[in-house]
Amino acid sequence: MMTRSDTILTSAVEAIGDTPIVELSRLTRGLDGRILAKLEYLNPGFSKKDRIARQIIEDAETSGSLYPGQTVVELTSGNTGTGLAIVCGVKGYPFVAVMSKGNSQERARMMAALGAEVVLVDQMAGSQPGQVSGGDLALVETEAQRIVQERKAFRADQFHLEGNTRAHLYHTAPEILRQTGGAFDAFCDFAGTGGSFAGCALAFKQFNPRILCYLVEPAGAAILAGEPVTQPNHRIQGGGYSMADLPLVSKECIDGYLQVSDEKAMQVARRLAKEEGIFAGFSSGANAAAALQLLNSTCKGKTVVVLLNDSGLKYLSTDLWK
Ligand SMILES: Cc1ncc(COP(=O)(O)O)c(C=O)c1O
Repeated sequence: MMTRSDTILTSAVEAIGDTPIVELSRLTRGLDGRILAKLEYLNPGFSKKDRIARQIIEDAETSGSLYPGQTVVELTSGNTGTGLAIVCGVKGYPFVAVMSKGNSQERARMMAALGAEVVLVDQMAGSQPGQVSGGDLALVETEAQRIVQERKAFRADQFHLEGNTRAHLYHTAPEILRQTGGAFDAFCDFAGTGGSFAGCALAFKQFNPRILCYLVEPAGAAILAGEPVTQPNHRIQGGGYSMADLPLVSKECIDGYLQVSDEKAMQVARRLAKEEGIFAGFSSGANAAAALQLLNSTCKGKTVVVLLNDSGLKYLSTDLWK
């Protein structure tokens, strides 16, 4: 069978997706059960968000809501912006990334290197660098809206556009079903926009309604689980924004909620690096930590699928690797 790696692709955009899946058998040593991890950090922009960047732009091209040469704007924790910088750069759209100063600086530098105009927004009084809260994100949203108006731009709105969910429904999840033969019992995913959770959970439920889908939140900011928000300034970048409603996520697909502390996410990210040779970020640590929780509780003896969302290289300036 011809695979993508046997051919010459026309651009890096075509190199998005088709990531490998790896069993984390060193992480689960001594436990009853398996964790299968999809290495999303191997995408061209080193995160799963390349997928939604491509889908949102190509959906907009198809529907006519994006015209040739029009400026694209999006609010980003860095990963969607990197994906959009790649896709827009290749396709010839100017791109403005609006990001909180609380996100790691590697992200801003990478987007700029890829040709994006990067607008950094100050955090709220009292917020800490490396800890982007829902309040910080609201300030970024206001600035993104202002730039869209000013430049008559296309807003690649990852919190609302279905392209976000569709990228995972039509690509990430079918790849997982193909790679595993559908032989797994559960999926757990740390939610930012919830697009990855929503798209994958929908596809998995359509394939087999008995696959259990768990939404992962930071401990102390588990608003979707109905818990009080006591720690909005957690360290798991890319999600856990304490938004009471995620427009893309339908409650019917959620079988349960899991919570992961900053310390646990970091500890498991470090174990992934040392024991599995997998250099991924905070939220990948959170996903793998949540999967370990499942193997130690309701999913003993079962197989759990997770996404490893982005590269550890994006956090070299943080104490994740100290
Ligand atoms: C590193 C990282 N992890 C997790 C997420 C959350 O993914 P989603 O928006 O699909 O819920 C994001 C989203 O930007 C991210 O950048």
